[in-house]
Order: sequence, then structure tokens, then C-alpha cells
Amino acid sequence: MKRFQPPRILSSRITDEKLWKSRRKIIGAAGLLGAGTLLGGAGLVRYVDAMSGRPDEAPDDAAFVATGPLQPTPYKYITHYNNFYELGVGKQTPAENAHYLKTRPWSVEISGECEKPGILDIEEILKLFPSEERIYRFRCVEAWAMVVPWEGFPLSKLLKRFQPTSRAKYVEFRTLYDPERMPGQKRDILPWPYVEGLRMDEAMHPLTLIATGLYGKELPAQNGAPLRLVVPWKYGFKSIKSIVSIRFTEKQPRNTWNILQPDEYGFYANVNPAVDHPRWSQKRERVLGKGIFAEKQPTLPFNGYAEQVAGLYRGMDLRKYF
Ligand code: MTE
Repeated sequence: MKRFQPPRILSSRITDEKLWKSRRKIIGAAGLLGAGTLLGGAGLVRYVDAMSGRPDEAPDDAAFVATGPLQPTPYKYITHYNNFYELGVGKQTPAENAHYLKTRPWSVEISGECEKPGILDIEEILKLFPSEERIYRFRCVEAWAMVVPWEGFPLSKLLKRFQPTSRAKYVEFRTLYDPERMPGQKRDILPWPYVEGLRMDEAMHPLTLIATGLYGKELPAQNGAPLRLVVPWKYGFKSIKSIVSIRFTEKQPRNTWNILQPDEYGFYANVNPAVDHPRWSQKRERVLGKGIFAEKQPTLPFNGYAEQVAGLYRGMDLRKYF
């Protein structure tokens, strides 16, 4: 099998002022559209509003330029169009409520089927695993796509340290439960804490990342600070945010959206244009940042990473294991 080389873009290589200025124009134009919300139905209005953030919040050095076909989505969009129910259910509320989520002190407990269970402090984790810059095309559950220059390290590096036993077949992740720091947990919108799971081989795959930053900056709270999972070939809900617990298990763990709506959200959640969500088609996706009138693009099997990951599911009926 060909060894996968993730594209590497170093922040030192990149400031292109023209691009930066045009990005400002894009944000400005989105603001104008936001003012003209007479344009369409509720869904459209919400989308436009989400795009109309305050340009002065954009970081000065957010000028990442990808070589090749993957143009990173502007920072503004990645950080102001979020799903993070612990910080509110709207797409913009996680950014507005980000200040509640204090990310220090923070530690992660590793337990279950492993030789060396333990607790690691976030500072120790950051020291042990220096971040690697990678660009991922990342797809979310509600038919939008973005390209995120995540920074972090392969989850496998962290997991190996705790020496999983042969009984470890799956990995279960949990988000912090603390209604003071996560005010959304004061309401019963989801069963708290948010939980997710991966099969062991998925967890150990080099594309599976623990993200600790994006665009050369610390991870913003609304994107799951201080550390979150990124599984680029799966729908967005698998990428659990603000993790405090990682447990090796023998049995397949439950995952939040599957507990809530098992006929709509499975355990595997591999991006698959051939299997529709019961309430919408998954064949095409909107690229966040390209504007609401831009043509949607065809969704790719495994989000474009089929060559690297399709082998993990050989022989499985992906209609059944969705
Ligand atoms: N993790 C937690 N703890 N809580 C959440 O509500 N939402 C998920 C996932 N991780 C969620 C979560 C969903 S539905 C998506 S699409 C992605 O986070 C969104 O990640 P982003 O906001 O960084 O784009």
C-alpha cells in the first residue's frame, strides 16, 4: 500500500497580501448580503447571517495559501459557522459563547483496555506531541464542506503511549461535562456529555488527528478547544470537541447522534454520496466561503480520502453500516 503523505504547508511560507485583501473583500461582501436578508427563506437567511461577522475579528496573519486544489476556507468562516451544542444550538452561538469555555486547567483521562491507564495534563500533551500542520477537506453533517488547515498530531501517537491490549477493539471519547463552562448543558438538548467512538483501526489511521490549533493559532473554544478529534473521511459529528476522556473498549461504544436518532446517524458515518440521509440528499455539498449562489460540488466518497481509507471497510455493506 502506498504510504500516505499529508500535504504540508508551513505558516512561514505564506503571507500573500493580495489574497489577504481579497479575503477582506469577501468578508465585506458577506456583510452586505447579511444586511439584505429579505433575500430568501429562513435557511438562507441564517446562512447569510453566519457569513457576516465583524471583519476586525479576523486574525492578521490568516493568509494560508494551499498549493494544489485545496484552498483553505477563510478563518472567519471556520470559526463562525459551528456546531457545538454545549455552547448553543445556532451556527453563530458557539463563537458568541466561547468565553464560557475556560480551557485551563484541563486534563484527559485514558482508561479501559490498556496496560498503562493514566491522566495527562494538557500542557504535557502539547509538549509531548508537537503539532504538525496539515490541510484537510472537512465535511460537516449538514451538507457543507470546508478546507481547514488543522494543526495537531495523529491520535495513534497518543494512544500507543497507553499500550492498548488485544481486547481493545474500539475507542470511546467524551467531552467535558461542566454546565458552568458549557452552558448549553443546562438544557436537555442532547444526552450529556457528548460521546463518540471509533473502531481501533480507524483510530490508529494516520489521517485521524487530535487537533490543537488551526491557521497557526490555538484552537478557538468554538472549534473544540483545547483538543478535539478530526476524522476527515467522516461526517462532522464524529469529530468530538473538548475531549476529557478516552477509553479503550471491547464493545462498540454508543455515539451521541446515534443514541438520539439511530435511523439517521450511524456509528461509522463515512462520507458517502451513495447513501442519502433520510431527510436530505448527500450527493452534493456547498463549499463554505464560496457564497450562497455558488454551484454545489459533488460529494466525494470518503470525502476524497478513499485511496487512503476505503480498505478499512472492504467487504462491509456500507448501506447497512452507515
Ligand atoms: N462535539 C461536541 N462536544 N458537541 C457538539 O455539539 N458537534 C459535532 C462535532 N463535534 C459537536 C461536537 C458536529 S455535528 C459537527 S458538524 C462538528 O463538531 C463541527 O465542527 P466545527 O464547528 O469545528 O466545524
